[in-house]
Amino acid sequence: MSAAPEGPSPRVAILGTGSMGGAILSGLLADEATRRPVRVTTRSEATAAALVSDAVVASSSERDPSANSRAVTEAEVVILGVKPVGTVALAAEIADAVPAGAVVVSVAAGITTAAIESALPAGTAVVRAMPNTPSTVGRGVTGLARGAAVTDDQLDSVARVLATVGSVHVVPEDRIDALTSISGSGPAYVFLLIDALAAAGVARGLSPELSAALAAETFAGSSALLAASDVDARELRRRVTSPGGTTAKAVEVFEQRDIAGIFDAATAAAAARAAEMSRS
Ligand SMILES: NC(=O)c1ccc[n+]([C@@H]2O[C@H](COP(=O)([O-])OP(=O)(O)OC[C@H]3O[C@@H](n4cnc5c(N)ncnc54)[C@H](OP(=O)(O)O)[C@@H]3O)[C@@H](O)[C@H]2O)c1
Repeated sequence: MSAAPEGPSPRVAILGTGSMGGAILSGLLADEATRRPVRVTTRSEATAAALVSDAVVASSSERDPSANSRAVTEAEVVILGVKPVGTVALAAEIADAVPAGAVVVSVAAGITTAAIESALPAGTAVVRAMPNTPSTVGRGVTGLARGAAVTDDQLDSVARVLATVGSVHVVPEDRIDALTSISGSGPAYVFLLIDALAAAGVARGLSPELSAALAAETFAGSSALLAASDVDARELRRRVTSPGGTTAKAVEVFEQRDIAGIFDAATAAAAARAAEMSRS
């Protein structure tokens, strides 16, 4: 599933509306089909006040201890957007208020659907989502894994919400750690590569400003070219690599240094860490 299901967005409550919850809120507000108002909570009064608008009812859990429970009473999709360490406790806090038929979505890294289900009434639908930071500009990639009690309609509703911030891919929960190692942590790999390419430009005598612009725009343009193309990245790479030319010389060095092996080892380490975090 990578396209948004049709139809109006479900009624949404977001509990914990910081970087990731805030990105999802922005996506929903930009989506004509969103049924307003969206109910959101934060911990502090100041952060809640900053979110209030015609379309957003925001309250602070510090000011009103029942804010989280009150926010979910009419929701069809409840998003838990707090830090991983507070996610199961937040599920327990709202357990009595989640409407029958609502689906609870956690974006917390390393928290399993079973852990969240254990804090909610038996049979509550729980979906685990792993978005990434480009969600903040509407270009995210989100992996979804369904818990034991999720219906197809509920999964569609969650996909409908997350599709407002990018593409959505459903995977079995035992693939979430692998997905985390590719798209969840992936933006950091891309920034690392852009930074390294820019540094190489400076080493070749370009100014830091020019080099940073060349590196960033080359990544952005190449991604756009790939998206617009009907061939894959390997073929596009082959097409810009004339035998004996400059690119071929550079690619030869990448291959001698085993760039594929480096990515394999790096993503294996990330996936292993994600699994370790889920266990603890
Ligand atoms: N950022 C990412 O790139 C990313 C990617 C994938 C997944 N995630 C997941 O997204 C979750 C949130 O991360 P984040 O980076 O968005 O964190 P964040 O910016 O610190 O946001 C956390 C939010 O939770 C609020 N909050 C804390 N305790 C609360 C409570 N008891 N009731 C209501 N609201 C409460 C905070 O309010 P105050 O600001 O008032 O304290 C804040 O709005 C984490 O579980 C993380 O694993 C994040």
